Amino acid sequence: MGSHLCDRLLAAGHEVLCVDNYFTGTKRNVAHLIGNPYFELQRHDVTFPLYVEVDQIYNLACPASPVHYQHDPVQTTKTSVHGAINILGLAKRVRARVLQASTSEVYGDPEVHPQDEAYWGRVNPIGTRSCYDEGKRCAETLFFDYHRQHRVDIKVVRIFNTYGPRMHPDDGRVVSNFVVQAIRGSDITIYGDGAQTRSFCYVDDLIEAMLRMMSTDAGFQGPVNIGNPGEFTMLALAEMVIRLTGSRSKLVFQPLPSDDPRQRQPDISLARKRLDWEPRVGLEDGLKETIAYFRSILS
Ligand SMILES: NC(=O)c1ccc[n+]([C@@H]2O[C@H](COP(=O)([O-])OP(=O)(O)OC[C@H]3O[C@@H](n4cnc5c(N)ncnc54)[C@H](O)[C@@H]3O)[C@@H](O)[C@H]2O)c1
Repeated sequence: MGSHLCDRLLAAGHEVLCVDNYFTGTKRNVAHLIGNPYFELQRHDVTFPLYVEVDQIYNLACPASPVHYQHDPVQTTKTSVHGAINILGLAKRVRARVLQASTSEVYGDPEVHPQDEAYWGRVNPIGTRSCYDEGKRCAETLFFDYHRQHRVDIKVVRIFNTYGPRMHPDDGRVVSNFVVQAIRGSDITIYGDGAQTRSFCYVDDLIEAMLRMMSTDAGFQGPVNIGNPGEFTMLALAEMVIRLTGSRSKLVFQPLPSDDPRQRQPDISLARKRLDWEPRVGLEDGLKETIAYFRSILS
C-alpha cells in the first residue's frame, strides 16, 4: 500500500520520504521512483526513534498478513506499539499531522455486523493473532492519548481487507493465495467450508480515502472505517479467480486457523459522510489488475 501512496503523493506534487525496514516490503515496489529528485528512500525500523523534518506522516509500518506478523510476534507488537510511540514523538516534535493505518482487526471476531466505528470489538488478548490485533489497538490508544495529552494532530483509519498489484506473492492472504495458486495451476486452498465472508477493497480506492482523511479538518480524528462493503464468500472469490485466470485449479478444503473471523464487512457511512468517499473499483476489475501483476512477476 505504501508504494501506491508514494506514487499518489508524488503525482500531487509532494516531496516524499519513504521509510521501510523491508521486512515484508521490497525495493522493487518503489524502484521506479528511485532517481526522482522529490523521492527519498530510507532503511529504518520504526521500533527505533526517527529524526527527520516532515509536515505529514502516514504510519503504515507493520506486517499485515498472518504469515508475516506471526513469524516474529514480539517484533509485531513492538512495531505497532514502539513504532506508534516513536512516530507520535516525531509528530509532536516537528508538529506534523500523523495518520495511523489501523485495521478492521481491532474489531476481532465481531458480534455485530457490519461493524461501525462505535463498536469496541471482541478480541482475544492471548491468541496467535493478538500480536497484530492488540498491537494495533494499543497503537490507536497511543494516538488518541498523544492527541488528548500533547495535542498531536492525529488521523486514524481502520482499513478492511485491501488487495492489488505489488502484494507479496507468499503472504498467505486470500486474494494473493488464490491468484498465485490459479496462475500456477495448483490446488486452491479454502480454509473451513468457504462460507466465511470477507469484503475486498482495491488499493487505489483505499489510497484515495487515506489522502482524503489526511486533508480533513483538524477537529476530526476518526477513527474511520475504510474498505469495500461488497461481501463475498471465499468460495465465490475462488470461483471468480478461476474464471478470470482461465485456470484448471481444483478447490481443496483445510481446517480453519484459530481466531479466524466468520464475517467481516465495513460500515462505511462515516467515510461517505466525512470523506465524501466510497470505493469505485469492483472486485472483478480489481482482480483483473491484480492477476495481470502476478502474471508479470511469476513469469
Ligand atoms: N492490506 C490490508 O488488507 C490491510 C488491512 C488492514 C490494515 N492494513 C495496514 O496497512 C498497512 C500497510 O499494509 P500493506 O497491506 O501494505 O502490508 P505490507 O506488508 O505490504 O506493508 C507493510 C510495510 O511495513 C514495513 N514494515 C514492517 N515492519 C516495519 C518496521 N518495524 N519498521 C519499518 N517498516 C516496517 C514492511 O517492510 C512493509 O513495507 C499496515 O500497517 C497494515 O497493518 C492493511
